[in-house]
Amino acid sequence: NLSLSSKEPEYFSPRSCKELMERYEIEEDGLYYLTSPTGVKYQTYCDMTTAGGGWTLVASVHENNLYGKCTTGDRWSSQQGGSPNVPDGDGSWSNTVTFGNAEAATSDDFKNPGYYDITAENVAVWHVPNNERVGRWKLTSFLRYHTESKFLRSYGGNLYNLFKIFPVKNNAGSCPANHGPSVPVVYDAGDASFNHNLFGPHVRARTDPGFIMFRAINYEKAAMAICLGVKPKDCNTEHSCIGGSGYFPEGSPRQCGDFTGLDWSGYGTHVGWSASKQLIEAAVLIFYR
Ligand code: G3P
Ligand code: CA
Ligand code: CA
Ligand code: CA
Repeated sequence: NLSLSSKEPEYFSPRSCKELMERYEIEEDGLYYLTSPTGVKYQTYCDMTTAGGGWTLVASVHENNLYGKCTTGDRWSSQQGGSPNVPDGDGSWSNTVTFGNAEAATSDDFKNPGYYDITAENVAVWHVPNNERVGRWKLTSFLRYHTESKFLRSYGGNLYNLFKIFPVKNNAGSCPANHGPSVPVVYDAGDASFNHNLFGPHVRARTDPGFIMFRAINYEKAAMAICLGVKPKDCNTEHSCIGGSGYFPEGSPRQCGDFTGLDWSGYGTHVGWSASKQLIEAAVLIFYR
């Protein structure tokens, strides 16, 4: 029966965790299978409880080697060295390349088809210590925050489309005129002041906590994708914003890599421009709802 079989895939194919919750009444956090409209079946984590639930994990940004500057594993910036010849690096923020898997999202980079296929309104971010097992993510996350303004509606419904509008590319604009949107966040673990304190004093003095900002641009016109719970007030954005273009002129290649210049004043020193070890040794998980 053609009509029945053509209904089946749709019936058994939730496209997002929100659909899984609303249509199939699933209420538990955990790993589930979703299907993209093109038929790609993939496993990801659903947060079914925070602020009403229905959050789909679409990506994780993991720094495997902060000493490696745009080297292997820097999939959210460039694995091709910091060079003006690759201004947008690996291009992961605005292409359909996928990598990693849900279970390893705190041990390696992860990007699934939901990143570009799901139409969403809000974003949530979790900071989870590296190498934590799935069942412990929520418990061990020291910082979790989400937007509530439905800002994605104005930018094409997901980050893939937002970063088409605001390319994560060297020389795409200048600071602060061409920064992407900054959106207030609500904290589900930690709070704005704890978030702020994960950065070194120079960064704290030059950022406001309680926001996610997208497509930051620094003094040298390098671009970063996401600022971690802060809105920069100056243009040294490379110490609080991650993911990035393939070329960071200042001190090249010292700021090139998935966690950018979060170690500018030393690895995990928490002085000057450097973030704490807690922050740099944790993966950044990105959810949509
Ligand atoms: O982003 C900080 C940099 O522009 C200045 O660094 O080492 O001269 O304080 P430094
Ligand atoms: Ca690196
Ligand atoms: Ca990485
Ligand atoms: Ca700088």
